[in-house]
Amino acid sequence: MKPSPSTYPIGIFDSGIGGLTVAHAVTQLLPNEHIVYFGDTAHLPYGDKSTAAIQAYSIKICDLFLKQSCKLILMACHSASAAAYELVKEYVGNAAHVINVIDPVVHHLRENYADKCIGLIGTRQTVNSNIYKKKIDAVGNGMELKSLATPLLATLIEEGFSQKKVIKEIIADYLKHAELADIDALILGCTHYPLVKTQIAEYYTQKVDIIDPSEIVAIAVKGCLDYHNLLNKHPNPIKKFYVSDYTASFEASTRLFFTENVHLEHYPLWD
Ligand code: DGL
Repeated sequence: MKPSPSTYPIGIFDSGIGGLTVAHAVTQLLPNEHIVYFGDTAHLPYGDKSTAAIQAYSIKICDLFLKQSCKLILMACHSASAAAYELVKEYVGNAAHVINVIDPVVHHLRENYADKCIGLIGTRQTVNSNIYKKKIDAVGNGMELKSLATPLLATLIEEGFSQKKVIKEIIADYLKHAELADIDALILGCTHYPLVKTQIAEYYTQKVDIIDPSEIVAIAVKGCLDYHNLLNKHPNPIKKFYVSDYTASFEASTRLFFTENVHLEHYPLWD
């Protein structure tokens, strides 16, 4: 019997293992879904790459997902979502649904933060692309965006510094910038940042809402699959985790991002 498209996997990608925060939220909300995760560790970090380079990487990763018959492609990276979403959507066409990590957040803001001042922290690519500002301005409900690139954070988190004192000092140093003054909410605009959500919340002493895209994006994935009648009803899914460059330290760090034991497989996409 031909398998139903609802049993096809969800393809999730990021520049590295940060997107596992989103993959984790998806697997919590949708425990029956087969997952193919691809971390482009050979090109990490995306945040400092050009738009053209990120677009080329994203298209090649989507080819892999399409070969694996993914029913939905989730761009679990803000930098890739900022640089390549429109291109990926056009490239993939009707072959799969495509969800980025920015639109669900903007939708959440539209529903909950009219006339408020919103802060954004993320990579240089995400912040300099102005994508959040364009989308927030297009909503037209009086929201104002203030943003700051915080490029050190992803590297420190990936190097295992998320629980160290030094990261609190660096977070405080970034967040005290005038660019982020008087905000009502702060978007964690990089898939690594949920790992330092507590430290960021402590800095603001509950006076600023911290917006963690991982859960918001997982809800959007569920909504899309449900709408298209593509939710998998069968239990015991297969989860595969590929990286384009393997080191033992990547594998060790996956525990920080994904509470289950994850075995990374090297997939030579660029050979
Ligand atoms: N995970 C990437 C993002 O969400 C950040 C890390 C990188 O620069 O590759 O933007």
